[in-house]
Amino acid sequence: MTLPAASPAGRWARISGWGSYAPKAIITNADLERMVDTSDEWIVTRTGIRERRVAAAHETTASMAAVAGARAIAVAGLEPDDVDLILVATLTPDYWMPSTAALVKEAIGNTRAAAMDVAAACSGFVYAYATAHAYVTAGLARHVLVVGAELLTRFLDYTDRSTCILFGDGAGAVVVSASDEPSGPHGIELTTEPQGAYMIWLPAGGSKSPSSAETVARGEHFIRMEGRETYRFATKTLASSALAAIRRAGLEPGDIDLVVPHQANVRIIEAVAKGLDFPMERIFVNLDRYGNTSAASVPLALAEAVDSGRVKVGDRIVFVAFGAGFTSGAVAMEWSVDPANGARAASVDPDAIRVRLPVDWNSVDPIPPALAAVLAARGPVDVPLDDVVPGEPAHASVPAASVPVPASASPAPAAPSEVPS
Ligand code: UT7
Repeated sequence: MTLPAASPAGRWARISGWGSYAPKAIITNADLERMVDTSDEWIVTRTGIRERRVAAAHETTASMAAVAGARAIAVAGLEPDDVDLILVATLTPDYWMPSTAALVKEAIGNTRAAAMDVAAACSGFVYAYATAHAYVTAGLARHVLVVGAELLTRFLDYTDRSTCILFGDGAGAVVVSASDEPSGPHGIELTTEPQGAYMIWLPAGGSKSPSSAETVARGEHFIRMEGRETYRFATKTLASSALAAIRRAGLEPGDIDLVVPHQANVRIIEAVAKGLDFPMERIFVNLDRYGNTSAASVPLALAEAVDSGRVKVGDRIVFVAFGAGFTSGAVAMEWSVDPANGARAASVDPDAIRVRLPVDWNSVDPIPPALAAVLAARGPVDVPLDDVVPGEPAHASVPAASVPVPASASPAPAAPSEVPS
């Protein structure tokens, strides 16, 4: 599918803000060695992953998405109510309904945006970005918040060594804003190949196989993956999608300053570099610290790339992803906003952002027991243990009406001194 760079009316779209959020608790390869028959050596050699983040009991996909989103809005120098549309790409929504985007809208203090989720698995953020771009260039929205957020550690089988070592939790976001000035070269490529539909999937919980004691007993509420087939598709499609987006922007790979790929496996990323004849030094990699965070992977890496000085105004960048479906998506663009604006994110207080809780309903054991046991056995962790081990977080029984919702999650656009982690 091809999308034009600008509408016939000459309205352009550009990224005006970015932000991310990663939970504090870390699961290392050594932790996983205590849970399944694996080794640090195998995981590092085969994937490049050394550690991943795990959300605390009180955190959800929506809460992580809201913090990343509030940071992106602050970086853009906007107020939450400036946002016309909120898109949350996720395969791990808080609930089947309402949408995670609806919960994010309230949590960030927005009163006027439309909000919806985007389901394209690990390519979800790129699909959501393309949707935002289309809305803005069509004149349907002036500012769109695009979030990729995942809480994958609650959907993993911690007896399946082929999947549980790969994934982690986190969120990343951008704001896509309208501009009257040409945004520079821009190209988008999206593909879907249904023959891979059951290569990565989560069997139960949908209308084909609603959740039941039997589906749970069979472990059908966990992510399943045919690793080798997925690997083959990924290496083939990431390079071809990136190349298609680059050419649609009227560019060649040699014109690209930085590629921000989906962070699934460093060997896949190396194959993409080879396929594009592109040096690894110009490909951003942070999967060693986060693992595969699915739809959060590209925006988490993009925010880190910009905040760490890897992107400057005028740089041509590409972000590219692939995932279940099989889906893939790539965007080639020119970066046009001062990376120093990233410092504004530090004035967002994550603790002031609260997601509405249900009334008269209490969740149980949000952390998978095997994971909680490893965290607890490890001794002191960098977050309060009550927050990590199974059990009822203190605020979970507080009726929604009494949970404070910040009037504004976005600070005045003065530049604070600190770049957020
Ligand atoms: O976001 C999209 C989602 N997915 C991906 O991007 C994943 C794409 N696939 C991959 O990254 C790789 O296929 C994996 C990292 C998942 C697996 O690496 P691989 O080199 O393709 O290994 P394999 O599946 O071919 O397995 C090789 C061996 C097998 O043992 P045998 O049959 O040779 O005796 C596995 O049982 O490695 C074994 N194995 C492990 N050994 C130690 C599989 N997982 C593990 C493990 N620790 N965690």
